Amino acid sequence: MPVAPLSDAEFTWVRDRIAGFCGLYFDQELKYLVERRLLRRLEARHLRSFGEYLLYLQRPSAGSQELSLLVENLATNETYFFREDFQLRAFREEILPEIKARKEATGEHRLRIFSAGCSSGEEPYTIAMLILESQAFSDWKVEILAGDISATMIEIARRGIYSAASFRVTDEYYLQKYFTKLNGKYQILPAVKDLVHFNVLNLLLAEKSPPLLNLDIIFCRNVIIYFNLESKRQLVAQFYRLLREEGFLLLGHSESLMNLSTAFRLRHLRHDLVYQKPPHEGKD
Ligand SMILES: C[S@@+](CC[C@H](N)C(=O)[O-])C[C@H]1O[C@@H](n2cnc3c(N)ncnc32)[C@H](O)[C@@H]1O
Repeated sequence: MPVAPLSDAEFTWVRDRIAGFCGLYFDQELKYLVERRLLRRLEARHLRSFGEYLLYLQRPSAGSQELSLLVENLATNETYFFREDFQLRAFREEILPEIKARKEATGEHRLRIFSAGCSSGEEPYTIAMLILESQAFSDWKVEILAGDISATMIEIARRGIYSAASFRVTDEYYLQKYFTKLNGKYQILPAVKDLVHFNVLNLLLAEKSPPLLNLDIIFCRNVIIYFNLESKRQLVAQFYRLLREEGFLLLGHSESLMNLSTAFRLRHLRHDLVYQKPPHEGKD
């Protein structure tokens, strides 16, 4: 029997439930998309109507598991190696040397970077390759933490095997140096893989993950663009707390902190504009 269309009231309920859970927000124009993905999930659960599916989502434990699966179906996971080259140039040529100089002065040889919303891993592996290339941190403890709400994406990231679409802007040099060929695909070398620690995590709850403290740089690119205003603000405030003083926040090229936070300083670097947590006021 065909399933009756998703009503506006059902759409609003599920839309708000998703936004409260993980920040992703779908406005009325995307109702068709939400309906299509919901249909997939209700068929997978052998349910007969959207009403039944929404009731299923309200079940104490099965409901939150199902919500995660629904979010996996709805999130945009688009990513590729060396995305947003101008920003990566700022990272490599300006941010890393600045952090290195600052830390050399105190003798702290530790670098902690978080790729927030890392999808299938191309972003944190790009960061790792750039750090290895710089050769400036070879005797340092370098940790690149990477998290995504999608268990499927994190599984792909941990496997580290990619096809041509992931390399649409990658220089042949990096392919040759940091990957091995495997059945027409490319596998990332252990030297890169070992620098990155992947976790399934909901960014809105990132503060509950203890290893995420004291970060030098947070990359959160092409993630908040899909969030509602309240979740954007909540996430940015959390990033502020997770960053060390003078730590950097790098957003995607179409994202900014306008209307979200005034706590960060906007730095005009040669290659890009980036956000920085200011040093503690009143410090010498
Ligand atoms: C478009 S991809 C961006 C990937 C990468 N940062 C880039 O710029 O290429 C957005 C990713 O954010 C993830 N995401 C969305 N909401 C999230 C949340 N609340 N917690 C963790 N990850 C989330 C999605 O699963 C998706 O993989």
